Amino acid sequence: MKILVTGGAGFIGSNFIHYVLANHPEDIIINFDALTYAGNLANLAAVAQNPRYSFFKADITDAAAVSEAVALAPDAIVNFAAETHVDRSIMDSSAFVKTNVLGVQILLEAARQAGNIRFHHISTDEVFGSLLPHDPPFNENTPYAPRSPYSASKAAADLLVRAYFTTYNLPVTISNCSNNYGPYQFPEKLHGLFITNLLENKKVPVYGDGLQIRDWLYATDHCEAIDLILRRGRLGESYCIGGASEKTNLAIAEHLLKLLNLDQSYIQHVADRPGHDRRYALNFDKLKNELGWEPKTSFADGMQKTVAWYKANTDWWQKIKSGEYQEYYKKQYPQK
Ligand code: NAD
Ligand code: TYD
Repeated sequence: MKILVTGGAGFIGSNFIHYVLANHPEDIIINFDALTYAGNLANLAAVAQNPRYSFFKADITDAAAVSEAVALAPDAIVNFAAETHVDRSIMDSSAFVKTNVLGVQILLEAARQAGNIRFHHISTDEVFGSLLPHDPPFNENTPYAPRSPYSASKAAADLLVRAYFTTYNLPVTISNCSNNYGPYQFPEKLHGLFITNLLENKKVPVYGDGLQIRDWLYATDHCEAIDLILRRGRLGESYCIGGASEKTNLAIAEHLLKLLNLDQSYIQHVADRPGHDRRYALNFDKLKNELGWEPKTSFADGMQKTVAWYKANTDWWQKIKSGEYQEYYKKQYPQK
């Protein structure tokens, strides 16, 4: 397969490129990425010279650039490109609407005009809204009820993808995944920020009471699920990808403190996120029953591997945490 991966220089996209190149020795990857603050070619340094990998720097909202990439005749487009951080979407939602909605429409349209390109769209469990403690997990039939500008823009994109299947028969699939953690995660998200802060001997900012729940999945397991859906998923279908690992944010912080031999004084409660979703959880029976997928990495192993990766790659995150990142951090945590 020749796969056009959009957003391949980000956290999950780069993990996916490593996964495909390692597991499909015949496959070719074209990585199409605008290199926003979240895109980092250092994530792909190990494959940069691989003859089956190439990089195309462009924006998915640039229709001419997208047409040029589609003219390279990929068999499939796998779309990771997005603005992804909820806190940034609360500060300014404009880039979210532009990339996550208009960008997806431009990709879909290019695929439709080229004809017969398999389109897989990466989405999130956040489109389903927020659960109460005893609610059953979300599944593929849960109505969409997004509550942040980020999740609203992702929900809009999913609906467009579905519409292109119904209206034009574009061969699409969608996956809605729970929270990921693992190597190459930008240090503004929970794991990336907390681990790197602790390695710098700084406190970790826990929003509100810290009892919000997320379902955590190791990024490589997410990539394996995407790969299966791309090759064997039923067209027009959505698949939920979950980690079977619901944890409060405080539990994550405490687990990290234990792994790094630090005490509770490193936890700092800070102001809560506005409209903070209380709980996400996913039922992934459909994926398990149809394609035989289950997460392979236990929470304990994934956490240990992730901490080890950040310890071994200080250069990677120290570069990010200097410069422009400082401005974001000051705005986000003015009390620090
Ligand atoms: P990320 O923020 O780490 O990376 C996003 C990538 O997209 C970057 O390389 C960036 O340069 C690129 N990009 C952004 N706007 C672009 C544009 N207009 N044109 C071209 N490239 C652009 O994101 P991530 O955490 O790797 O998430 C990838 C996808 O997975 C997103 O669609 C996200 O909604 C979804 N997702 C993420 C999680 C998670 O926990 N991180 C969970 C479920 C779903
Ligand atoms: P995040 O990684 O931003 O993912 P999402 O909001 O998309 O689920 O946050 C995960 C959880 O961690 C979420 O409940 C917010 C919380 N959180 C903190 O408590 N402190 C932080 O500094 C960050 C970034 C997140």
